[in-house]
Amino acid sequence: MVNFKIENPTTVHFGKDVMNDLGNTIALYGKKVLLVYGGGSIKKNGIYDKALEQLKSVGAKVVEFHGIKPNPLVDDVNEAAELGRKHDVEVILAIGGGSVIDSAKVISVSIPLQTSAWRIMIGLDKPKKAIPLIAVLTLAATGTEMNMFAVLQNEEANKKIGYGHQMMYPKHSFLDPQNTFSVPRDYTAYGIADLMAHCLENYFGKGEATLSDRFVHSILNEAIEYGPKLLEDLTNYELRAKIMYAATMALNGFTAYGREKGDWGVHAIGHVLSLLYDTPHGATLSIAYIAWLKLHLNRTNERIALLGKAVFGSKNSDETIKHFESFFASTGCPVRLQQAGIESREKGKILSTMIKNKVNGGHHKLSEDDLRELVDLMDQPI
Ligand code: NZQ
Ligand code: ZN
Repeated sequence: MVNFKIENPTTVHFGKDVMNDLGNTIALYGKKVLLVYGGGSIKKNGIYDKALEQLKSVGAKVVEFHGIKPNPLVDDVNEAAELGRKHDVEVILAIGGGSVIDSAKVISVSIPLQTSAWRIMIGLDKPKKAIPLIAVLTLAATGTEMNMFAVLQNEEANKKIGYGHQMMYPKHSFLDPQNTFSVPRDYTAYGIADLMAHCLENYFGKGEATLSDRFVHSILNEAIEYGPKLLEDLTNYELRAKIMYAATMALNGFTAYGREKGDWGVHAIGHVLSLLYDTPHGATLSIAYIAWLKLHLNRTNERIALLGKAVFGSKNSDETIKHFESFFASTGCPVRLQQAGIESREKGKILSTMIKNKVNGGHHKLSEDDLRELVDLMDQPI
């Protein structure tokens, strides 16, 4: 086990009606609030009204930036930061899924730095201060609510990349499973695939960390047992709660402590598919993970087999991969490019973008031949 530090400063408010504490929590940090949200789902499901009521109750002055897109764009982040600077905001309130909260994280550090968000993302400007960020999570998937990472897309640079900084943890995250009742079935399934992929990226990382492995098993067991039930009963509070908690725990450090590093090669592949075809994040991972596991069948055979034994009771690595594939397929997630509407003739473009964007794993290195094979495996007939 390698040395590690546990320093997670986010206060998580989890459960029914936790938004009742939102106003008072925001007031701890200031009265001038930048409210950031996406394409309007929060207006349809009533979360927007609840938040405004809370803000009003503490006399907050609100300026709004909306229209953050799934697979969020750096240009929107720059525009929102400019608005925040102009109004001298003291707190940022992000309401949404990973795209909104990730954008808000970068907005929070780029306002004081007076720089473009992309310079931060590529490490040219280091955050020095952050406007306090409060998050209301509306989609269980990414774990962004309790970690320091953000992923943004830059269309000009043709890249989708992640960046993390200690200052980018939300101060508080409000997780009411009721706020995820309106997430459609497909996005609920993509969220389950994403949280499972976070477990796998850590599990296939470098270094032995047996307790972290067992956290991975437990989180995967939750997803595998309760995910399919949730997909049949989208407004079931207990099931939404189980998946929401599992998603938070999959990427808040607990599946990683004690390991030298995670792998994250599959996420890098997924980001290329999102960049080129605007494929939802979780849907890129269900395709890419099956291909990655097949490529690694003989490279990390024992670890694949051990994982399968713990989560599916499977007998060997081959069977483990089949279990993952049929699980994703049973939830309606794509497991091949065609199922996400990406045709075989796109293979060349996918490969060249992967090579150009230096797609690789942190532990399991991917050569150009490996990338070519991965693209073929993603395109293989079912
Ligand atoms: O735009 P709105 O109206 O909010 O609609 C969204 C969007 O269309 C909708 N939605 C969200 N909550 C809803 C809802 N619809 C109905 N009811 C609700 N309660 O769902 C759609 C997808 O939202 P999005 O935020 O894009 O989804 P997700 O949470 O999966 O976030 C994906 C983004 O997070 C990044 C991904 O790369 C992707 O850009 N990730 C961030 C990570 C992190 N910060 O640690 C790690 C992840 O691996 C991931 O890379
Ligand atoms: Zn992910």
